[in-house]
Amino acid sequence: MQILKTIDEVRALVKSWKKEGLSVGLVPTMGYLHEGHKSLIVKSVEQNDRTIVSDFVNPMQFGPTEDLATYPRDLQRDAELVESAGADAIFNPEPEEMYLPNFSSFVDMSTLTGGLCGKTRPIHFRGVCTVVSKLFNIVTPDRAYFGQKDAQQLAVIKHMVSDLSFGIEIVGCPIVREEDGLAKSSRNTYLSADERQAALVLSKSLEFGKNMIANGEKDAKMVVDCIKKEIEKEPLAKIDYVEIVSWPDLENVDTIDGSILCAMAVYIGKTRLIDNFIVE
Ligand code: PAJ
Repeated sequence: MQILKTIDEVRALVKSWKKEGLSVGLVPTMGYLHEGHKSLIVKSVEQNDRTIVSDFVNPMQFGPTEDLATYPRDLQRDAELVESAGADAIFNPEPEEMYLPNFSSFVDMSTLTGGLCGKTRPIHFRGVCTVVSKLFNIVTPDRAYFGQKDAQQLAVIKHMVSDLSFGIEIVGCPIVREEDGLAKSSRNTYLSADERQAALVLSKSLEFGKNMIANGEKDAKMVVDCIKKEIEKEPLAKIDYVEIVSWPDLENVDTIDGSILCAMAVYIGKTRLIDNFIVE
């Protein structure tokens, strides 16, 4: 397993693989890897001859008041997980390698990015689309792997790949959870013991909403209101948003029929956590 720091090193390695006719999978991450990331890597290893994991905390997708400086980082630990998952290389560039001082080109999307997380994080998806485009151009993978944990991101990336004809297959992977239901996240490390317990309100309230829909409730507002009431019972929780939208178009819906995404962002203390479910 190789750790690569420069774009040129990645290009040379991928070129040598492609010369042999090998297929390449890419798993973009911001590091501090956990079982959720690992499930994406394992899937890529299954489906491709070679797999590269990018491990880069992308400054461009963080707002000025967000957690860029404190975002957890541990390359050694990440390298062990990536190797144990069977991948071939980690690409871990410095920000200066990705963004030259005169960097001035961005990938921006005029649909899909205004609602849900885009409302409280207005520059987030421009940063995500720009860095993922760069990674696609550097690695030129056959397939790239994204988690449903970030459902809006998955929809945005699929749309971008279609709009800009990247010719890369985007593979969506299910949410990996802790035993008690909390969705795995690098940001869970910010939680105190009390907050960790309180964070269960995300998955529990989603389960509550999912059951309502399974029992025939069609009124989206009714489901959202009931989920919000469940969250409000937890004193450490503060709702950013709870919404039901069409999937994968992310448009507002009044009545639940066809595929929908029910997504939420909730602050537990100072930590903003996200979770969701999709009903196809
Ligand atoms: P990061 O938060 O590190 O997540 C990397 C990938 O892992 C994303 O596709 C995310 O959806 C997936 N993932 C995270 N937790 C998961 C879980 N519990 N179950 C399944 N998949 C999970 O998302 C990003 O990084 C960045 O925005 C990135 C795409 C790398 C661009 O910088």
